[in-house]
Amino acid sequence: MKTNPSASGTGVENSSSLKQYDEASLIDLLEKAEQEHGFIPRDVSDEVGRLVEVKLERLRRIKGKLDSTIRRDVQQHVAHWRNEEGNLIMILHAIQNQHGYVPREVAMELSRELGVKLARIYEVITFYHYFKLQPPGAHSVTVCNGTACYLKGSGDLLNELRTQLGIAEGQTTPDRQIHLDTVRCIGCCGMAPAMVIDGKTCGRVKPADVAGHIATLKIKKEAAA
Ligand code: FES
Repeated sequence: MKTNPSASGTGVENSSSLKQYDEASLIDLLEKAEQEHGFIPRDVSDEVGRLVEVKLERLRRIKGKLDSTIRRDVQQHVAHWRNEEGNLIMILHAIQNQHGYVPREVAMELSRELGVKLARIYEVITFYHYFKLQPPGAHSVTVCNGTACYLKGSGDLLNELRTQLGIAEGQTTPDRQIHLDTVRCIGCCGMAPAMVIDGKTCGRVKPADVAGHIATLKIKKEAAA
């Protein structure tokens, strides 16, 4: 028969100790209580529920502040370009310059402010290669896919990068460290196959060199940490 345990049975002494729990520890705590008793005791669920409410309220306040900042920024962009022909692209450029990409919530605010359907905004964003929908990575690796580089094996280079980074071109690694992309001829055909790492051109790159280049970027990340 199951008892009616208190929060102390789960290792939680009182509400002041609960306040120190982050989200992951709270989930852990609830899972442990469930495993131990077969259900989550009432005093634990009440206490955790109160704590979640406090956290949610704080998050709502933060979100409110962010929303008003986004609204103000978008209003400024729209006011600046309102009477210009093709103003949607101009505004998207300004947004991308500001954020490094076009965040979804900014696109939604722009749709409201400009009175243009969100689908139309995304049509423009996805048509132009320049616009990005994800935050850029801390580092960029761009493989030249022009004719000279292609004939000298840029395809193998790209495949090696895809394998090592676990992403396709146009994507960023989940830790947002490295963005992989391709480009058509960077004007160094004599050095084919070429790639550009953080603005630095590397020529005659072999697939076997890729691991070394990625390791260098990781060392840079650790040094910056
Ligand atoms: S084709 Fe790659 S540099 Fe020209």
